[in-house]
Formats: sequence, structure tokens, C-alpha cells
Amino acid sequence: MRNLVLPALLLLFSTLAIVQAAVFSVDLGAEWMKVAVVDVKPGQSPIGVALNEMSKRKSSSVVAFSGGNRLLAEEAMGIAARFPERVYSRVRDMVGKPSESVKRIASASYLPYDFVEESPQVTSIRVDSQELYRSEELLGMILGYCRGLAEANVKATVKDAVITVPPYFGQSERQAVIAAAQAAGINVLSLMNEHAAAALQYGIDKDFSTEPRYVLFYDMGANSAFAAVVLFSSYSAKEYGKNVSHNYFELKGIRWDAEIGGQNLELRLVEHFAKEFEKKTGVDVRAFPKAVAKLKKQAKRAKEILSANTEASFFVDSLYDDQDFKSHITRQAFEELCSDLWERAVIPLQKVLEDVGMTSEQLYAVELLGGGTRVPKLQQVLAQALGKKPLERHLDADEAITLGAALYAANISDGIKLNRKIGMFDGASYGVVLKVNDDGPYELVVPRLRRIPVKLARAVKQQEDYELSLHYDPEGELPLGIIDREIAAFKISGVTDSVAKYSSYNLSAPIKSVLHFALSRSGVLSLDRAETVVEFTELVEVPVNVSTNATTTLESTSNASVAENVTQAPVETIMEKKLKKKTIRIPSKLEVLRDTGAYSEDQVAQFRSRLDRLKELDDEKRQTEEAKNNLESYIYTTKEMLDTIKDLSKVSTEKQRQEFLARLDEAGEWLYSDGEAATASEFKKRLGELKAIGDPIFFRLEQLTARPAAMEAARGSLVESEAAIHEWKEKKPWISDAEVRKEGQKLVDWIEAKESEQAKVADHEQPAFSSTEVYARIEKFRVLVARTGAQKAPKPPKIEEVVKNDAGSEEPKVGEENPGASSGGGDSNSGSTQEGEREIESPDQAQAFEDESSTTPLRDEL
Ligand SMILES: Nc1ncnc2c1ncn2[C@@H]1O[C@H](COP(=O)(O)OP(=O)(O)OP(=O)(O)O)[C@@H](O)[C@H]1O
Ligand SMILES: [Mg+2]
Repeated sequence: MRNLVLPALLLLFSTLAIVQAAVFSVDLGAEWMKVAVVDVKPGQSPIGVALNEMSKRKSSSVVAFSGGNRLLAEEAMGIAARFPERVYSRVRDMVGKPSESVKRIASASYLPYDFVEESPQVTSIRVDSQELYRSEELLGMILGYCRGLAEANVKATVKDAVITVPPYFGQSERQAVIAAAQAAGINVLSLMNEHAAAALQYGIDKDFSTEPRYVLFYDMGANSAFAAVVLFSSYSAKEYGKNVSHNYFELKGIRWDAEIGGQNLELRLVEHFAKEFEKKTGVDVRAFPKAVAKLKKQAKRAKEILSANTEASFFVDSLYDDQDFKSHITRQAFEELCSDLWERAVIPLQKVLEDVGMTSEQLYAVELLGGGTRVPKLQQVLAQALGKKPLERHLDADEAITLGAALYAANISDGIKLNRKIGMFDGASYGVVLKVNDDGPYELVVPRLRRIPVKLARAVKQQEDYELSLHYDPEGELPLGIIDREIAAFKISGVTDSVAKYSSYNLSAPIKSVLHFALSRSGVLSLDRAETVVEFTELVEVPVNVSTNATTTLESTSNASVAENVTQAPVETIMEKKLKKKTIRIPSKLEVLRDTGAYSEDQVAQFRSRLDRLKELDDEKRQTEEAKNNLESYIYTTKEMLDTIKDLSKVSTEKQRQEFLARLDEAGEWLYSDGEAATASEFKKRLGELKAIGDPIFFRLEQLTARPAAMEAARGSLVESEAAIHEWKEKKPWISDAEVRKEGQKLVDWIEAKESEQAKVADHEQPAFSSTEVYARIEKFRVLVARTGAQKAPKPPKIEEVVKNDAGSEEPKVGEENPGASSGGGDSNSGSTQEGEREIESPDQAQAFEDESSTTPLRDEL
């Protein structure tokens, strides 16, 4: 029977746990990013999708630079059709790739960017005809936007995140995403493969203890598709002596096509309509980026319409040279245009079933993910390939991945616990081999689908210093766009010296070099250290205890006395020579010769400082914009109020109003002339000056009604206090009302004094008092009344002791007073004392109830 290894992850969540800091997840799609936040607060679901500024649940993965401004997500997408060269999309697919591949990705999608090749490995994009940015920096900006969304939803700083990546991302792409996230100030708890996130979301609320299930997840997004077979099952483990069943899931197989997605379908429509336009006009608009951008936008729209309709109209305003383009397409024609793509889209599914040696009948379910799977023809071809197996949509095709990643983020962060458990075994996407020096054979380090995370040690029989290189397994495929199979190369030194030093030893095995690798939960492979291991035997003297008394008395049968007898036996220690196995581990020097995917700390810090600077500029711009808007709207609304509110003439003189109006006009003129380029502080200063004039006027206007209302409330509270005093007299005779009466009189005097002062002041002058002062006095007085009314009655003397009379019944001790008790003379034994106590309605008991109800509001408890 197969040994079950404990899962790499146990999710343990408790909805009651207190969150120390919120965490978030990003499904970093090629076209759309979806952000989820985990924030445990009472009364709200702990995990939710973060809405963007337009209240949408997904945001475009783009950044744009236009006229010195940086735009992100929807704002950036808004200018894509007009300025395609300024809107940077597909940067997720450009990071970590050689320059040649980056350019190929852009041209395949008709993206007219100004690339500057810094080296075969590094390409930058010149944005806005000025600054050069690397794709990692652009991706960092996009991820920074996601962080901003999480923070806006939580209303606090959020740094920790899990970011999903497509399964086909290799070593350099994964490291690039981490570097980009760090540049955005994100602490990457882990990257997560998209299929693992979807599987976690699928399995978290299900029980697999009765039977294992194989589930196939098929995702088609904008630019890629994958099919993954995942086993959901359970294992038993002893917990506190009991057998407990734990659910887990494990990746069994995965295949992908990193170049087929919804965008390919759109591009077929672009080609189709471009040709149609060419037929009509003789112009091939594909040479003109703006025209292509317009076609792309409409093609996407038409494609999505065709998912629900059999026909779609197609119209592009001023496609080329002021000529509009009008056409239409049927679903059938669209399906024919993409005929080869349907076949291609099924291949990952067929391959993965082949890999795991299963037929579709053996699958429990097929779950569709990603926007691309909404296309009816794709669903049809997938269904055909699966035979009778129905396609399922238990998961939200758009949000399952980000929600699963959010669960994982919560699990690996500190401080959040939910009460569900599931183990997760994800697998390595690519096999990795090592080669010693140039001529060594390939040796497998990481087999494909090896469970992650894992630490691996590999021994190399090297007797001298050597070079080592890591490569993607030549038997397997390369990540999309990666040209060189080599991942990294190292020099290991110190082996020669160690061999020279220890070869004369009595070696029990040849000296070897041991390499320690780690494959992280993000799927990033690292060589952490190397050491030379020397195993040898040696004669060593060891102390041996020899008994000198052969006849130890063991007469007693009790264990205790046996122990006594043994320890008391005479023993002698002698030294004996013995052959002992020994191992010496000498750390080797590890030098990185090449690592195309690695980013130095300095490099990341440089990305970060550039992004921080941009964020500062954005914040400054936003503040300036805000301050300008505030001033503009103050001028506009105040002028309107001066014009329309009649009571303003009561609280201001004609002269005051005219002067104020003149200042408002002057500020308005400045705003649209010199003020155009003013700073936030200048706008704030102007606003402050206007408010210094306007606030007293509007305060007086407000006080015109607020003051009498406050006085009315004060009188009301005096009436209430009278009622309370009356009630105390009847029901709470122990309360003295002297203090309340005294303070009530003071309030009456104050009201009279203030009203007579106010009568001498004109309405356009500073009022003698404000409603706020009145409410402060009312509050003080009400507190006094409430405190006085809550006074407890003096305690009744206690019935301290109960003595038993001769007959065995109980009665109060003679001489004790019991003022509240109507029954119970010394001779009464008709009821027990307990019963007598229940009958007494002592003031103390009533107060205790009152106190309880007033100090323990139920709401606070919940
Ligand atoms: N109703 C629909 N009909 C057809 N296609 C659709 C529909 N809705 C969305 N799509 C397509 O789905 C794709 C986007 O899907 P999704 O959001 O899953 O992609 P992504 O996650 O950004 O990309 P990827 O997973 O490739 O990185 C786009 O090509 C979009 O046009
Ligand atoms: Mg996706």
C-alpha cells in the first residue's frame, strides 16, 4: 500500500480568529486581473473580491502613459483605441523572457511599442517618448494598482499577497513576477499556480472521505489554455489517539497551450474584417496601429456577442482616413474562421487524460474556468472530446482562481484562521536536470510534477572543483518564449582542497560533493548550498563499563529493589578501541556564473524607487486635482447660494455679500488663468481665504434656525427633569433631587441671559451664543439627571445566619430586622427561608436587574 505523506499544506481557518493584518490575492491574467481580500471583521464575509473604482470585479491588466500622466487599468484601457502605442498590455507575458520573444509577443498582438533592446535578455519600452521602463517595472505598476484596490477595500495598508501565475511559467518568469511585486511594495507570500488555486476553491467546502474524485479543470483565458487533472481524496491520521480523516488534493497531470486563448479568436475577426475593408477600399489597415486597435476593440465585442447570439453587427467609426466601416458576422462564419483553433484547444485536455491514463468516464467532473470557455463552440468541442461527460460550472469562471489564492494567502499568513481543512499537493511544472562541467551527462534533479515545496539533495561524484549547470529537462518542453534550456550555472570550489586533505583517511565511500536544492512553493528552484562530504572509519577509544562482581544479588521481587541492587553493583570503566564511522561535511564555495532569472537586491531596489517616485507624483497630481476641484466647486456652489438663498440677506449686509461675491469672481478668474498650473497648497490657500469670509456668514445662516431649535431642546430637557423628579418621589424615595433642581435653575438662568444678549445683537453680527453651546449644557444636565436617577436604594440589612430550630426547620436569627419581609415572624415555619427570600422584593434585587440590563447591551456581546 502506498504510504501517504502528510500534505504540504493544512488549511486551518476559524471565522472567529482575529486578523492581525489583511492579506490579498491577485489572479494576474493576461487581460484581466482579479483581486480578492481576506479581512476578518465581525459581520462580514472574511474573503471577498475587491471592487475597482468603477465597482467592477475585474480590472484590465494594463498601464498607460499619456501626456506625462500615468493611467492604470480601466483608465488606461479607455485610451487604448486612440493611443494604442501608449497603452501597455500583455506585460505579464513579457517578463522574464528574452528580447526576441518579447518583441514576438507584441507583434503577434499588433502592439506598436517602442522597444529598446538593452541586451539579448533585457528589453525596455520607451514610454511617452521619454522614460525607458522594463516590463517588470510596468508589471510592478499593474500589481501596485491591485495592492491599491486591496487597500481601498480594507481601508488599511495591505502588503502580503499570493499572486497566481499560469502553470507554464518557468523559472525566470516566476522570479520576474516576484521582482515586479516587490517593486510595488508587495510582500509575496507565495506565487500559486492557477490550477492549484482553482482546485483549492473547489475542494475547500467538500468532503472526500467517502470516495476519491478525479476532477479535470479546463481554463481558457485571453492568451492561454490549460487542462489539469486533480485528485481529491482523504487520508487518516491519528490525532489525540483517534483516527481523523483529512481531505487533500493532488495534481495528477497538467498540459497547456500557452498560445491559444480568447485573443486568438478576436484576432481572427480582426484579420477577417481587415481583409473585408481592404476589398472595399484597397487599403490594408493592419499596417496602422490605431486602425488595428479600433478593429480589436470591436472584434472583442462581436466575439462576446456571438456567445449569446447567432449574429453580431460590426461597426468602426472612422476606421481609416475618416471612413467608417460597417459589417456583420454570423456565429457560423466566426466558427469557420477559427476552425483550426477549436481542434487546438482540445489538445491539452486529450494530452492530460493520456498522461494520467484515464478516460473521461473516470472523471468525477470537468470544471470550466476562464472567460474564453464561454464560447459555445469551444464548449461543444470539449464536450465532444469528453464523450458523455457533462461540462460543469460549479466554480465562478472569473473568480475561482483569485478566491482560491485568497484562501491560500490567509493560510500562509500569520494571524488568520478559518475552520476548514484541506491538504494541497501541487507539482513542478517542468523537470530540471543538472550537468557537471561541459561534458557531464544530464542527471535529473526535479522530475516533472514533483510535489512542491521540497528540499532536495543531490550527490555528485566530483573529486575536484567543478562547474554545474541547471537545465530544463531536454525530454520536456520549454516555457513559452524561453530559448535557452539553461536555467543557471554555478562554480563549486573547495572540493579539490578537501579531497587533498582527506583522501589519506580510511574512506568508507568516495568523497562526494552534495548539492542542496530547494523548490519553493512559488515553484522557484534554488541551489542553496554545496558541501564536500567525507565518510570514513577510524579507530577510537571508547569507555566501556565492566562489572567486577559477577554475582549480583537479585533477591527482591519488587522493581524498586532490583534497581537498587543493580546500581549498587561494583562497576569499572575501561577504554576499548572500536572502529567508528565518521562523516565530515565541508561547506563549498558557491559562485553564480549565470542566472538569467535572478534579480539582485539592488536591481529590485532600483525598480522600487522608480515606482515609488511615480506613485508620489501620482499622489501629488491626485491631491492637486482634488484641491482644484474643491476650490472650483466651492466657488460655484457659494455663488449659487448667494443668488438663491433669501435668508442670507438676514445674516449678512448687502456690502458683505457684494464683497464676498467679488472675491469669489476673482478666485474663479484666477483658477482658469494663472491657477491652471498651480499647486495643491495654492488651491488650498485660496479656498481657505474664501472660507474665512464665507464660513461666518453661513454659520449665522445655519444658526438662524439651529439656535432656536437648541433652546427648544433645552426647555424640553428641563421638562423631562421635572417628570423624573416627580417619579423619584413616588418610586425612589431615597433619591435627593436637590442637585438636579439647582442645576436646572442654573440652566434656566443661562437660557434667559443668552436670549436677552442675543436680542441685542443683529442677525448679521456675531451671535451671542451658538446652538453647540446649548447642546453641551443640555448634555451635561441630562447626564446629571440620569446619574441621579440611577442611584441605588440603601442596602437592606442582610439575613446573615439561619439557625435550625429543634424541629429541624429553618428560621431567621432572633433579633434580625427584615424590613422588606411581610411574612416570617420568629415563629413562622410555614415556608423555608429560601422561599421567604424569593417573596421579598428587595430594592437591591430590582436594582441588580436594572444594572444588568443597562450595562450589558446584547449588541456589544455579539
Ligand atoms: N461572453 C464571452 N464570450 C466569449 N469570450 C469571452 C466572454 N467573456 C469573456 N470572454 C473572453 O475571455 C477572455 C478573458 O478571460 P479571462 O479573464 O479568464 O482571461 P485572463 O485571465 O485575463 O487571461 P489568461 O488566463 O490567459 O491569463 C477574453 O479573451 C474575453 O474576450
Ligand atoms: Mg486567467
